[in-house]
Amino acid sequence: MTARASIRFLRRGETVELRDVPPMRTVLDYLRLEERSRGTKEGCNEGDCGACTVALGTLRGGKIVYEPVNACILLMAQLDGKELVTVDDLSTDGQLHPVQQALVDTHGSQCGFCTPGFVMSLFTLYHEGHAPGREEIATHVAGNLCRCTGYRPIIDAGLAACTGRAVDRWAREADAAALRLAALDDGEDVFIGTSAGFIARPASAATLARLAAENPDATIVSGATDVGLWITKQLRVLPKIILTGGVKSLHEVKDAGSHVALGAAASYAEATPALAAIDPDLGEVLRRLGSTQVRASGTVGGNIANGSPIGDMPPMLIALGATLTLRHDAAERTLPLEDFFIAYGKQDRKAGELVWRIDVPRLKPDEAFRAYKVSKRFDQDISAVMSAFRFSLDGRRIASARIAFGGMAATPKRAAAAEQAVAGLSLDQPSGWDVAVAALARDFQPISDMRASAAYRMEVAQGLLRKALMEVAGASATRVTGARRAVA
Ligand code: FES
Ligand code: FES
Repeated sequence: MTARASIRFLRRGETVELRDVPPMRTVLDYLRLEERSRGTKEGCNEGDCGACTVALGTLRGGKIVYEPVNACILLMAQLDGKELVTVDDLSTDGQLHPVQQALVDTHGSQCGFCTPGFVMSLFTLYHEGHAPGREEIATHVAGNLCRCTGYRPIIDAGLAACTGRAVDRWAREADAAALRLAALDDGEDVFIGTSAGFIARPASAATLARLAAENPDATIVSGATDVGLWITKQLRVLPKIILTGGVKSLHEVKDAGSHVALGAAASYAEATPALAAIDPDLGEVLRRLGSTQVRASGTVGGNIANGSPIGDMPPMLIALGATLTLRHDAAERTLPLEDFFIAYGKQDRKAGELVWRIDVPRLKPDEAFRAYKVSKRFDQDISAVMSAFRFSLDGRRIASARIAFGGMAATPKRAAAAEQAVAGLSLDQPSGWDVAVAALARDFQPISDMRASAAYRMEVAQGLLRKALMEVAGASATRVTGARRAVA
């Protein structure tokens, strides 16, 4: 295979080209240990606290879009073709950037350890070019933890700085930077290392599929929001890493009429508009999945491939009836998503085979969907119970249902007994719902762990089914937050 043996990215207006990049090298280590830019801080080193937040510029539709990402779990090769902006870059000729100045003015920093991360998160919000409200700012910085200042002055800083069109150095030099990024997009596969140890970021779909098939022992990485922790927390050695993110077609989110076709490397951020358009509850759960940083890097495909019993996406996608396409070299096969999850840690994917595409059906006019995530914290937490319901309605009667849960079994799983019991129920006779609620006890024997007890999980699952039925029947005021709170 002919390929480029280097990565190239834009930094401070110049192209940086690096060879011999160690496969597991993170962007945070590069910044602090090699470039010696120490403004970016290491806190948790696992993608939770946001102290290491940097901005990544990606060329989309001819314009650079800046997204915040956690540098501690971002691999260097993921920078290929991007612009990297860090807190060390922001002040110009001794003048603070508007978001820095706003944090000073509102007293938004005390110990300052979190501050570089907040600055970079607010920098990306500033570049969205509109004036956000408090709630949008709070959602945007939910992945930045501050333990001493408190969020009110930090959100005040966001309100003061993000007032409309960006007018900073990046805005002024946007056209030139876009040209430079376009010039970096040479369509070349990246391969650094030898056949015994490498990191590869193919640009071609065929190369990606072939390389994975030829190296069944390689670790496939899309956003690295999970694998990054294998490196920083489990200290695992991953000699061969294949990144999926270089293949543009795998980022595509296509409107295919009756369904949305998601490329496996589409980030949560890329997929959210199309998924939230299927039903607002998808958008509401996605708002609480990880953080803005995690959603900019992590992918729906990765959430599936990883096979976790507590991933947020699989229950929703299973309830909607999504299908999964896998690819091994040139051969593709498609299966219902629920069949992919065989047992704890075991998926229907052979070594070298890639999660390739997810087809998510849209709702028909006579279908109603609900999804609820229950976790200890509202933001950026792992679900104790994740639930999703799709009801097919025949007037005020439920003709059939697809019900799926996460956190209730060793895999994301459909509730077959409850689905059967729900069929035929009237939305106008809540007393008849008890039988379906009780049926969940036949579907699941949840476990107790640090997130929830088995009894709590069952009680919550049953309550959520009842809530879904109440909402579809027309009850209002069932939510304290979220897209449906005003829905009658
Ligand atoms: Fe905490 Fe990176 S150091 S998210
Ligand atoms: Fe100390 Fe935020 S200012 S953690």
